[in-house]
Amino acid sequence: MPRIIYNTATTLNGFLADDDDSLSWLFVVPGADQAESAFSGFLSGIGALVMGSTTYEWLLEHEKLAENPEKWYYRDIVSFVMSSRALPGIPNADVRFRNGEIEAIWRELRDAAGDRDIWLVGGGDLVGQFADAGHLDEIRVSVAPVTLHSGRPLLPRRLESDRLALESVKQAGQFAELVYSVRSGE
Ligand SMILES: NC(=O)c1ccc[n+]([C@@H]2O[C@H](COP(=O)([O-])OP(=O)(O)OC[C@H]3O[C@@H](n4cnc5c(N)ncnc54)[C@H](OP(=O)(O)O)[C@@H]3O)[C@@H](O)[C@H]2O)c1
Repeated sequence: MPRIIYNTATTLNGFLADDDDSLSWLFVVPGADQAESAFSGFLSGIGALVMGSTTYEWLLEHEKLAENPEKWYYRDIVSFVMSSRALPGIPNADVRFRNGEIEAIWRELRDAAGDRDIWLVGGGDLVGQFADAGHLDEIRVSVAPVTLHSGRPLLPRRLESDRLALESVKQAGQFAELVYSVRSGE
């Protein structure tokens, strides 16, 4: 069975992005290149990824993917985008748009990952939907030395210490990389 891993950068106070969906606070953190080199090792173990439509649309816009489809870095990874709307795809990339309950896509997602793992890209509520469905094994956060007044939450669910266990702590530049295993809620 693939492991289902939420891997993301976050502010110290638990935001993925600010209220305008900007990541400008993230890109200016010193040592982001060290965090990125660890990230490419992580990506090589991923067979499928899932993201919400806000994250996908941010990537479309930020990377100008319509004009530069080669900037879609996840070409070897089957990509699922959750949305109730019709969104543009990316030429020559396996991007699958799905709508509805996590259980309804779970088998397809698991089969797409094959013998590799599943990366939950975010946002936080989508990862919460996976947690609710019992499909979340690990949370890996790279905590940036940044706080924001408000923004898009890391994981808007109540998971207490009976569900989360700290597995490792590492420093990468100015980031603290924390890995937690997630126990089933049953
Ligand atoms: N710091 C980081 O490394 C990092 C990582 C990930 C994301 N981000 C950023 O954080 C922000 C996350 O935004 P977010 O939390 O608002 O959202 P998100 O998960 O990217 O998108 C939320 C949207 O996805 C769709 N959706 C979610 N679950 C669905 C389901 N089960 N079925 C169908 N559609 C579903 C809905 O939109 P529709 O139905 O209207 O399409 C929903 O409004 C973005 O700005 C992103 O760029 C940052």
